[in-house]
Amino acid sequence: MAALLRLAQAQQPDIVVWSGDITQRARRSQFAAARRFADEIKAPHRLAIPGNHDIPLFNVAARLLAPYANFRRSFGPELEPVISNPQWLVIGVNTTRPWHHKDGEVSAAQIDRVAARLNEAQPGQIKVVVVHQPVCVTLDKDRKNLLRGHEAALAQWGQAGVDLILGGHIHLPYVVPLKALRGGAEHPFWVVQAGTALSSRVRGNTANSVNLIRHPALPGQPLSIERWDFKAEQSAFAPVS
Ligand SMILES: [Fe+2]
Repeated sequence: MAALLRLAQAQQPDIVVWSGDITQRARRSQFAAARRFADEIKAPHRLAIPGNHDIPLFNVAARLLAPYANFRRSFGPELEPVISNPQWLVIGVNTTRPWHHKDGEVSAAQIDRVAARLNEAQPGQIKVVVVHQPVCVTLDKDRKNLLRGHEAALAQWGQAGVDLILGGHIHLPYVVPLKALRGGAEHPFWVVQAGTALSSRVRGNTANSVNLIRHPALPGQPLSIERWDFKAEQSAFAPVS
C-alpha cells in the first residue's frame, strides 16, 4: 500500500480507475478501509465499479436485497460512473449480477447505452470503457471467466470507436490488440486487463501490478500502456512492460 501511494505521488494521475474487486467480502469495514486508502491517493478523478467480491456472498439476504449498499456507502451512489474531460472519456459499466454472484454479464441495454455515449465523444478524447470481468482472455482455462455478452460488446463498442476496454477479475495483467470496422475503415482498439494491485491473491508467480495509461503528448501520437510490478527488493513498483 505504501509503495502504491508513493507511485501515485510520483506519477500524479489525473484519473484513478478501480475496475472492481476492491474488497474480499464486501463487508462494511472492508469498504471503509478501501475508502480510507483511496482517499490517500490524491487525483482529480476517481472512478470505481463493483466486482463480484464487492457484493455479499454468504449473506444471501443482503446479496439479493441490498447488494451494493456497502459499495455505495464508501464509493458513492453511482454504479456506472462516467468521467469526461478534454483528454478522456471513461465509462464505467456494472457487470456484476447478484444472482449469479461470480459470473459477469453486460446486457443489450448497457451495450447500447455505452455505444451511444462513445459515439458522442469529443475529438481528442481517448475513449475508455471499464468492465469487471474480461471481454477477451488469453488462456483457454479463463474462457469460463469471460463476460457474458462480450461478443456483442466488442462488436458494438469497437464500431462506436472505443480505444481501450479495461477489466480485472482474473488477476492476470495483459493487453490484447483488436480491430473493428468503423465507418468502412479498420479501427484498432485494445483490451487492457489489470493484475492484482494489492491483495495477496495473485496468479502463479505474477507480481502485484498496476497499469499506467498515458495520454498521447500530441494529437495523432500513440498513447502508452505501462505495466508496473511491485518489486519486493526495492519496496516499490517499477515499470516492466
Ligand atoms: Fe472478480
